[in-house]
Amino acid sequence: MKIALAGKGGVGKTTISASLARYLADNGERVFAIDADPNANLALSLGLSREQAEKVVPISEMRDLIAQRTGVEPGSVGAYFKVNPKVDDLPDRFKLEHKGVMFLQVGAIKEPSAGCYCPENALLKSLLMNLVLQRDETVILDMEAGFEHLTRGTSQAFDAMIIVVEPSLQSVVTASRIQSLAEKIGIRNVFYVGNMVRDAEDRAFIERELEASTVIGFVAYSDEIRTAVRLGRAPYDVSPQLAADVAAIWDGVVRHV
Ligand SMILES: Nc1ncnc2c1ncn2[C@@H]1O[C@H](COP(=O)(O)OP(=O)(O)OP(=O)(O)O)[C@@H](O)[C@H]1O
Ligand SMILES: [Mg+2]
Repeated sequence: MKIALAGKGGVGKTTISASLARYLADNGERVFAIDADPNANLALSLGLSREQAEKVVPISEMRDLIAQRTGVEPGSVGAYFKVNPKVDDLPDRFKLEHKGVMFLQVGAIKEPSAGCYCPENALLKSLLMNLVLQRDETVILDMEAGFEHLTRGTSQAFDAMIIVVEPSLQSVVTASRIQSLAEKIGIRNVFYVGNMVRDAEDRAFIERELEASTVIGFVAYSDEIRTAVRLGRAPYDVSPQLAADVAAIWDGVVRHV
């Protein structure tokens, strides 16, 4: 199963990605949790220590590797480079394992307008292609706002996108925009998860604003989650409610895909 998570800034994509990955690993699945956000914090949410998280170099910043695999120094303008570089050894070489989750920080796709940063982007896109098309582990992809990492080939290989929303109009409006974009690039299934819900009214709001049948679950607002992030602990380890909520969300995914 290959799942991408998206949503407005701050709605809980990273918290839910990390918790889903931890839940799957606890249940014996082989799972890659991939951080594709330039402002990376999936490592901490999975429960890696601050020291470990600070040491991680995103693959997009590995200049020697990019040059070696694409034939061109990162940032070169106008040079010819390999658009399909060898990447199949990279997941195992650079993954960090934590509580059964294989974590990979791939880094951001760079704006081609800022000069041609294409070798980095070619490497990252090939790497994601490899993870979703060639490997049989479950993939949970924590994405930044845009879909720059996805090509038509990769997006079609995803089983589903989960758009995280909170009970706010901004968040559902953003979610609808993301949904149209997801459809355009060929994502087969789009589901919503409501996060930070406090009561029945919050749930009803989300189900009313989005197509109710595509809302596959909710994560309750919890002070335990706030405490966990303050202490740099995995929310999944601290909040039994969150662990139960992501279990139910995964059941929903499996039932719908
Ligand atoms: N259910 C919840 N209850 C309480 N706090 C939550 C909950 N879900 C997330 N949070 C808190 O909200 C903040 C944002 O969460 P998170 O980093 O997961 O969102 P994000 O969508 O990944 O953000 P970004 O767009 O910056 O990547 C964090 O401090 C997190 O601990
Ligand atoms: Mg995030």
